[in-house]
Amino acid sequence: MTNELLKIENLKTYFDTWAGVVKAVDGVSLNVKQGETLGLVGESGSGKSVTALSILRIVPRPGKIVDGRILYKGESLLEKKENEMQKIRGKEIAYIFQDPATSLNPVFSIADQLVEIIRHHQNLSKQEALERAIDLFKLVEIPDPEVKIWNYPHQLSGGMKQRIAVARALSCQPSLLLADEPTTNLDVTIQAQILELMKNLKKKLGMSMILITHDMGVVAGVADRISVLYAGRVCESASARTIFYNPKHPYTVALLTAVPNLAIKREKLKVIPGTIPNLIEPPSGCRFHPRCEYAQPACSQEVPPLVEIEPEHYVACLRAKEIDVKSPLRAE
Ligand SMILES: Nc1ncnc2c1ncn2[C@@H]1O[C@H](COP(=O)(O)OP(=O)(O)OP(=O)(O)O)[C@@H](O)[C@H]1O
Ligand code: SF4
Ligand SMILES: [Mg+2]
Repeated sequence: MTNELLKIENLKTYFDTWAGVVKAVDGVSLNVKQGETLGLVGESGSGKSVTALSILRIVPRPGKIVDGRILYKGESLLEKKENEMQKIRGKEIAYIFQDPATSLNPVFSIADQLVEIIRHHQNLSKQEALERAIDLFKLVEIPDPEVKIWNYPHQLSGGMKQRIAVARALSCQPSLLLADEPTTNLDVTIQAQILELMKNLKKKLGMSMILITHDMGVVAGVADRISVLYAGRVCESASARTIFYNPKHPYTVALLTAVPNLAIKREKLKVIPGTIPNLIEPPSGCRFHPRCEYAQPACSQEVPPLVEIEPEHYVACLRAKEIDVKSPLRAE
């Protein structure tokens, strides 16, 4: 356990709703090493955000963590008292929310909001906190930081707001950054700029990061390792290179084949057939079986365990060794 920063084992987070129990996260295991970026990828509704919210124990009601372990720097987060968790949130582990616009208050200037956050965690005067906020603006490469910091949220573009969301997350020098779809609502050029910025900052500040996205194109070139989620479970986990060029799970291949902005030939692009399953009564056995072209009768009966098929390459598919799936990124 030398350089492991975060380790999640068999995490289960359920929502007890009127319609039934939604098993949003149902046995997720993953880990993040010191200084690395883990890409957490999966279709909408696969449990990415709920996994991240579980780490900080901020799952909204009626969500509840019902099982599993979350170890951060070797300490169990699920056993910590609420006041201990408050110290971890923001200071040790920071979260960039899926919609940055909603995390900024429209009636206060950015300076006011950042100063308050900085002072909440650090014992600084207002002036010192303001200087720190301006430094953070410089860090995230916002031009004219001394002027821009006095803007109100509505005066800023989407890209600028996202840079501020990054600055805010970095304000207390966290060891781990959870970035939930940080570039989803931005156009492609701005998206690339923000990802490049985050990649550089992560290196410069020596942080680790979990980059959450439904788009394989976003993690390409940023993530060191990738865990692929399907219907609340991890179906494959490996180095980014392996996931892109040597995936073994049919769902990973389907995800890669559905990405228009990877260097895939147009004629190879395919939409994943079917829809993500209902998580109240998910499919039996392998949850992907109703959509999997390789499914056999056993697939609907047995839950495939996540098995290490080669060093650092984990796959949850009963047929991983016998089927010959190919990445669309590989030359024929
Ligand atoms: N408050 C809630 N009440 C009931 N079910 C919920 C709640 N929040 C999330 N869920 C369910 O949990 C599942 C996982 O949701 P989650 O938000 O983690 O998905 P996601 O992978 O982040 O998707 P997206 O890409 O759309 O953000 C979904 O089926 C969702 O409907
Ligand atoms: S276990 Fe069966 S259904 Fe699931 S991915 Fe493997 S082949 Fe497909
Ligand atoms: Mg989400």
